[in-house]
Amino acid sequence: MAKKKLNIAIIGGGFMGRTHSNAFRQAPEFFALDHEPVLKAVCTRNAKGAADFAANWGFESSESDWRKLIDRKDIDLIDIASPNDTHAEIAIAAAAAGKMVMCEKPLGRTAAEAETMVAAVEKAKVPNMVWYNYRRVPAVTMAKQLIDEGRLGKIFHYRAKFLQDWTISADVPQGGRGTWRLDANVAGSGVTGDLLAHCIDTALWLNGGIASVTGATETFVKQRKHADTGETAEVKIDDASMFLSRFKNGSLGLFEATRYARGHKALYTLEINGEKASIFWDLHDLHRLQWFDHRDEGQLRGWRSVHITDGEHPYMSHWWVPGLQIGYEHTFIHQAADFLAGLASGKPASPTFRDALATEYVTDAVLKSAKSGQWETVRN
Ligand SMILES: NC(=O)c1ccc[n+]([C@@H]2O[C@H](COP(=O)([O-])OP(=O)(O)OC[C@H]3O[C@@H](n4cnc5c(N)ncnc54)[C@H](O)[C@@H]3O)[C@@H](O)[C@H]2O)c1
Repeated sequence: MAKKKLNIAIIGGGFMGRTHSNAFRQAPEFFALDHEPVLKAVCTRNAKGAADFAANWGFESSESDWRKLIDRKDIDLIDIASPNDTHAEIAIAAAAAGKMVMCEKPLGRTAAEAETMVAAVEKAKVPNMVWYNYRRVPAVTMAKQLIDEGRLGKIFHYRAKFLQDWTISADVPQGGRGTWRLDANVAGSGVTGDLLAHCIDTALWLNGGIASVTGATETFVKQRKHADTGETAEVKIDDASMFLSRFKNGSLGLFEATRYARGHKALYTLEINGEKASIFWDLHDLHRLQWFDHRDEGQLRGWRSVHITDGEHPYMSHWWVPGLQIGYEHTFIHQAADFLAGLASGKPASPTFRDALATEYVTDAVLKSAKSGQWETVRN
């Protein structure tokens, strides 16, 4: 049967533009899909950069004004891989034009902004998804299966952290290419919306809703030069953020993110402690799932390090032979494949825009609590 062509325009040709381009190219090679993704157009801020990107990744055309892509009748799907301040405007325009929309995280800079995006895609009834890719690390997907099967029993604790160290120097500017994450106008928030958002999305998926939070944030370097204006200005993002939470299932959560943990580049770890068993996962060792089962024979009871590379493990039957691991880029390939499979089956793959709004409600509550010093209820 001939495959249905799905014409894609990606907005953004940086870090995520590359992961998404790779994902749409690889997904149909490794997964049996009814749709054939076609890389129709890429848009970046700079016309020459966009043309070079298009040539490198095999896009048919390039642009430096995303509005032109919204107007094009030959584009089915707008995929947003540009900085956070562009997400809402592009997503709303794309939905209004009847296009499917995929968007990088965080969905919006605030929950209020994200709500406008959810409203737009739901009004237009267009397929939509947010690239919270860590759900599709096979070991994390496996953790979800084990939890859903009830193997951990009642959950007591959820613990996650995401540590980096790239903004410790006061010479790192705010704003501009590469450092837009330090400019609150562009990013929305600092590590709360950037790194903690990943931890929260995975937590909501694995352990259900969060009822309330109490958080603290800090901005260690208070003034930085702005890359666009050259002026030194107050830094308005959070450099570090941590919070305690109460999940709706009665468990307690502990979350931390920072860009000031010297020696750590992308240390995302999560741990879940249940009545019967515990799970630990570490992005630096992403193909392993640590598992402790209290029901094991006493003498031999201990943490197992399961190499998630067998055909019976999630997604792995699509890759190599048992024992050979896959990596970071595959999480995006899995997400693209699941999105396309969801189009064919009519069962949308998660997280949709609405699913991702739940994360925004948590990040908003964390930032509110950091200001108020109080426990804050999370909107649900
Ligand atoms: N899922 C993840 O793990 C993950 C990882 C990194 C970044 N992100 C998210 O992806 C998005 C992009 O981040 P990045 O690291 O790829 O950024 P980046 O700085 O590497 O690239 C940004 C790209 O967007 C383009 N761009 C900027 N403004 C534009 C505009 N108005 N019109 C068209 N193109 C424009 C730039 O030219 C550049 O090509 C952000 O929302 C970020 O939070 C997600």
